Amino acid sequence: MKLILKIIKIFPPEASHKIALFLLKVLHKLKILNFLFPIDKKNNFEYLNLSFKNRLGTAAGLDKNGDYIDSLGALGFGFLEVGTVTPLPQKGNPKPRVFRLFDEQAVINRLGFNNKGVDYLVKNLKKRKYNGVVGVNIGANKTSEAQQRTNDYLICFDKVAEYSDYITINISSPNTPGLRNLHEDKHIKNLIDSLEQRVIELNFIKPIFIKISPDEPYEVIKSTAEYIKNSSLTGLIISNTTTNREMLKNSKYKDFQGGLSGSPLMERSTSLLKKINEEFPELPIIGVGGVMNKLDFDNKLASGASLVQIYTGFIINGPQIVSDILN
Ligand SMILES: Cc1cc2nc3c(=O)[nH]c(=O)nc-3n(C[C@H](O)[C@H](O)[C@H](O)COP(=O)(O)O)c2cc1C
Repeated sequence: MKLILKIIKIFPPEASHKIALFLLKVLHKLKILNFLFPIDKKNNFEYLNLSFKNRLGTAAGLDKNGDYIDSLGALGFGFLEVGTVTPLPQKGNPKPRVFRLFDEQAVINRLGFNNKGVDYLVKNLKKRKYNGVVGVNIGANKTSEAQQRTNDYLICFDKVAEYSDYITINISSPNTPGLRNLHEDKHIKNLIDSLEQRVIELNFIKPIFIKISPDEPYEVIKSTAEYIKNSSLTGLIISNTTTNREMLKNSKYKDFQGGLSGSPLMERSTSLLKKINEEFPELPIIGVGGVMNKLDFDNKLASGASLVQIYTGFIINGPQIVSDILN
């Protein structure tokens, strides 16, 4: 298996991601996934009225279109987050747009919400056999500005509401120009108000998270947390990728545009999570950013996360990381 992983890594990042997920699908169809990557502990628990198989989930972006729900579920993840999905399909930024920094255990990506659109994702959600929790991460199309941007979230919200177990509002991708402005006080308040309106209209009772950037000033994240606390929304996902490069050892990558994830993000995202948890101990938080092993996973939980997600650890260390963390 280690040899296969080494071979897959020779391909360019996006191709090797596709090959790896395709192979997982094949192994799942052959019913040997659990034999190769056994999970020996059962850690089922109830949280936010949902039944989680364990506290480790996939982070958004890993399965943008929901093409691999059943195989990722069978690998042992306790929950999955698919997306980011936008109302209309879009191609994203020109390639190359994903860079693996193996020596830094990191990735820089500037994909720009490449996805097949919300309708395609909904078809996959309807087809899924995996009976675990599947959250959907929603975003706005690149060409949408101002009020249309808010409308994009509402379009996706309406379409995925029935078929998802929770919904994440992604305001923090650094690769859609202007998206992070939604952290600003008046914008976030407007967005939360619009979502609350929808919650009432649809009688929506499932959890809603806002996924934030680790690059905003602490006061901004604090006031977002405050708004959420006083609303019918649920909690925060801390955090998305960073545009900061201070924590990179190799200066070669410093000028690469995009969001940095993996090991160099661990400290930044976890200290933010810890601070918010200390200030808002009742607020549900999903911790993500830099989890490369069991120690990092435990660290996120000890810092106040109720659930933890991974992406870069999965790319750098392979599917083995799931059983390594859970067993
Ligand atoms: C290639 C790539 C694509 C991503 N796409 C998305 C996305 O579509 N939506 C999103 O909210 N986050 C996306 N992310 C961010 C991850 O969900 C996660 O927040 C971030 O990578 C930090 O976690 P990690 O260090 O475990 O990778 C992406 C990350 C990577 C590396």
